[in-house]
Formats: sequence, C-alpha cells, structure tokens
Amino acid sequence: MTLPAWWQDAVAYQIYPRSFADSNGDGIGDLQGIINKLDYLQWLGVTAVWLSPFYPSPQIDVGYDVSDYTDVEPTYGTLAHFDTLIAEAHRRDIRVILDLVLNHTSDRHAWFQESKSSKHNPKRDWYLWRAGQNGGPPNDWEAFFGGSAWEFDPITDEYYYHFFFRSQPDLNWRHPEVREAIADVMRFWYERGADGFRIDAIDPLFEDAALRDSGVAESITDLWLKYFTSGRNEWKIFREKFHRQFMLPDNYTVLPALRDLTNAYPERILLGETDSVLCYGNGEDMLHSVFSFEITDVASMNPARFREAIQFRIAHVPSRGWDCNTLGSHDRSRAMTCFADGMDNQARMQVALAMTMLLKGTPMFYNGEEIGMEDLPIWDAALFRDGLGIWAYETLIAHGYSEADSIRFADTVSRDKGRTPMQWNGTANAGFSPDGIQPWLPVHSNYTVGVNVAAQQPDEKSLLHFFRRMALLRREHVALRRGEMQLIEADARIVAFRREHHSQTCMVALNMSNEAVPFDFPPTLIFSTHEAEGPRTMLEPYEVYVGIIGERV
Ligand code: GLC
Ligand code: CA
Repeated sequence: MTLPAWWQDAVAYQIYPRSFADSNGDGIGDLQGIINKLDYLQWLGVTAVWLSPFYPSPQIDVGYDVSDYTDVEPTYGTLAHFDTLIAEAHRRDIRVILDLVLNHTSDRHAWFQESKSSKHNPKRDWYLWRAGQNGGPPNDWEAFFGGSAWEFDPITDEYYYHFFFRSQPDLNWRHPEVREAIADVMRFWYERGADGFRIDAIDPLFEDAALRDSGVAESITDLWLKYFTSGRNEWKIFREKFHRQFMLPDNYTVLPALRDLTNAYPERILLGETDSVLCYGNGEDMLHSVFSFEITDVASMNPARFREAIQFRIAHVPSRGWDCNTLGSHDRSRAMTCFADGMDNQARMQVALAMTMLLKGTPMFYNGEEIGMEDLPIWDAALFRDGLGIWAYETLIAHGYSEADSIRFADTVSRDKGRTPMQWNGTANAGFSPDGIQPWLPVHSNYTVGVNVAAQQPDEKSLLHFFRRMALLRREHVALRRGEMQLIEADARIVAFRREHHSQTCMVALNMSNEAVPFDFPPTLIFSTHEAEGPRTMLEPYEVYVGIIGERV
C-alpha cells in the first residue's frame, strides 16, 4: 500500500499558527498555544494537522516568505517547542503535516542575500537574474499581485524574477543545487518527526526558459482593479497572461524526487496546493494527494455546481489518486460566510461540513470552521496585515478611489478577513490572547454571541458537536473513509452519493434547500439531522442523511 492508511482515514485540520492560540500574551499565536490545544483537537476527532509556515520570516506574506527553512520564528517559539509539539501530537494519535514553500524564499533568506551580492556568487543562479532590455525589465511578465515580475537590483545592475511579492524572489528550479537544498530541508523535518508536507504554490514553479513575452496587453493591475470594483472574475485572462509563468509541464519534473525522498521515511505524505490531477503521476511517483479545489470553489449552497464539481473529480482523478477535500483555508473567505443566508446559517453550514467529511478523499478543515467562524471585514486601512490587502488598498488609492471605497474593495481580496484569531471562549479577546492585549488582527465580535468553543462544547445542538458527530461517523464506517464514490441521481436540490467499500455500501444525502424534497431512502439509517417516525419519503429542509444501502457478510 503506497497511500498510508492514516492519511486515507484522517480527519485533517489546518492550523494557522499566528491566529490559533497565544500562550505568552503578545497578541500572536505560537507553538506552545497549539500544544495547549491538542486535547481539544483530539476531543474534536481530528487525527492530522497541517501547520501553515512557522519558520523565521519577515511576515510580508504571513510566513509564506521564509527566511530560514530549518528553524522556528522566534515569536512562535523554538525548535524545542516543535519537538514537544510532535511528541504531544503523536501521543494523541495526531499526525503533523508541515508547509513547504518551494517556489520562492524571502528576500531576507541567506541564500538570496548571497545570490544578490555579486554576479559571481556561487548561489547567483539559485534565483532568476537577467539583464534589462531597452532600459526596462527583461520581458512583459507580471507578478500575480500586479506590476512587473522583475525587480531591479542596483548592486549588480540586473533584475530578479518574483511571481508573488517582490520580497519573494523565485527559486530557480532548473538548478540542481536548489533541488538538493530543498531536499535537505525535507530531511531535516522528517528526521524531527514531521509526517508530511503540504507543498505550497506548485503551479508557478517553472517559467518559460526562453523568457518569451506573454503577449497579453491587459495588465494584471487593471484586471485586479476590475475585479475589486465589479467582482468580475477575469481568471481566463489571468491564465492567458500567465501562460509562460504558470502550470508549465516542467513543474511535474520535480515531484518524483520529492516522492522518492519521502518514500525513504515510512508513512509520510505529500499534499500539493494544486488541483492538477497530473501531480498524481502514476500514483506512486508524485504526490499522494492534491486538493479538489473545483469543489471548494463552489463556495455557495449550489447543488448543481457541487454535483458537477464532484463528478469532475470522479472522472479525472486516477484510480490511485486520493483527493483532499476542503471548504476553505487561510487564502479564502470563511465557509460560514459563503454558506450562510441569514436564516438557516447553522443548518447550511452543517450540510457543507457533512459533505466535506463524507466525500471520497481526506477532509481538511480550516481552524474555526467547526464553530462557524465568519469573515471579519477590515474597516480601517491601518489594520490590513496581508500584503495583498495592503497592495490592493495602495493601488486603489493611487487610482483615485476614495478612502472608504479603497478599504472596501481591498477587503474583497485581502485575506485578513478570514485569518482573525480563533475564538476559544466568551472572555476578552475570545480567549485567544489575555485581556488588555491587542491581537495582531482584530477578533470577530461574534465570539460574545456563541461563536466560540467554550459556548458550544456543552451544547449538543451546536455546530461544534455536529462536526464531532460527523468525524465519529466517518471513523465508525469504513465505507465512509475508504469507499469508492458515485453520485446518486436525485431531485435537483439534493447532493447524494454512494460510498462503497468491500462489504459495505453507505449513502449520503444532503438537502441543499429549505424545502422538503422527495427522496428514495435506503433501508438502514445511520444518521440524520431530523428525527422521523416510520418510513420516510421526504428529505427535510437542509437535512443531512446517512444510511446503509447494503452490507454483505
Ligand atoms: C500559497 C499560500 C498563500 C501565499 C502564496 C505565496 O498560495 O497559500 O497564502 O500567499 O502561496 O506563497
Ligand atoms: Ca505569542
């Protein structure tokens, strides 16, 4: 078996370290804070956590700009805290997956400092340096966050390439020493007990070697401006614009070495931040999992689109692939904000959580989803912490938008709104930081009205309990963990699927509407959000129903 059973069976949970739990009262989450919450995660039914980067970083991209791959950001703790975290997590049967940023480092990383120091430095070609052309950058490529992808550096009179912020220079993946250096990083953490990696930003790893122009005249900044102000998603033009910088076939060539290295350590996994099924390779030679972002992207109670996205994954994921299903992350609007309609918020969120928990694949929940945390719109430009929000705000101001509009539009793209501190209880700062401390991002005020762990823990009807019940259901039924999946034809308001494993076949039916809908029920009920006497013919509004179709002995 090349896919470790623990990963297949896992209920995974993304921890955003800066916002999870602040143990020392400086307003910033830390590793000790995570250690303190492991009992909670175990109670919840979580069996694997993915930690967003906790490495030393200037925090322009909140840790996705790494300045040292093999240490811990001092505000988060030390390597000794990391070792304790691993030991304490493993003691509770919780695996720990780390974040591996391959595409770029911080410009403060020692590798880049050396690389930029001289054209003859041995690390010069670890990054992409080019001479300018006609007094400008080497070509027309732009960065994902707008502006030229080339940054001029006066020390050597050349430009370096960056797909994200200018403080995130891209590594040159064509250089064997870069591959070796990253392999050393992986070994370092595997030796310390890490159970795998979530590999960040695979799609922009390689660029066209000949540096040919994109040829697309429209600028990324203009596309973003259109998106901010009209909400119109120009993803197609984005893709066209980036076709020489994004999703190149070369990307797949780095994966086999990562897999080989990983295979040398038992039971480790690689999860890619991509939905490209090509990253599965032949099932043995590339990644163990990728995210099913088509499903995540639905981000609304839309059964037709969910069925379409699920069918797409069923049709395209190779038989040895194993998707990771998710409702959100630190890069997206919070699930509750996407699914709530102001009337049946919890019921709708339950439907979304149940779907994610019971689809084929490993579910990955973003911290706070289990209590229904919502986006917190940023109301003051000084509160933006996400470089993307800051950049958007400054760009809008520079284009003549009013202060209020600039904040409002920048907030649509800033990821701060979904990164606010975890809400633990009803005391000041939601128990994230002590009273009197100002957390790095403001706390959502709804912690005072029940959106916190302590309020929901004793309440069997809470979203938190529903989450825990679903995690248990998954654990108790092998078909719900490992079974194959098929959609079931049903009323247009329903998403229903079958999960079949050897002797057991389960079915999951989710009513995504506020009306009772006729449904053909299986013989045996395992779980329902609605209690009913006698034989049933209607799925109740927003009902989550799980039954057994057949069990052979
Ligand atoms: C990934 C991360 C995101 C980050 C980007 C650049 O998409 O999830 O937070 O900004 O990579 O590293
Ligand atoms: Ca702290």
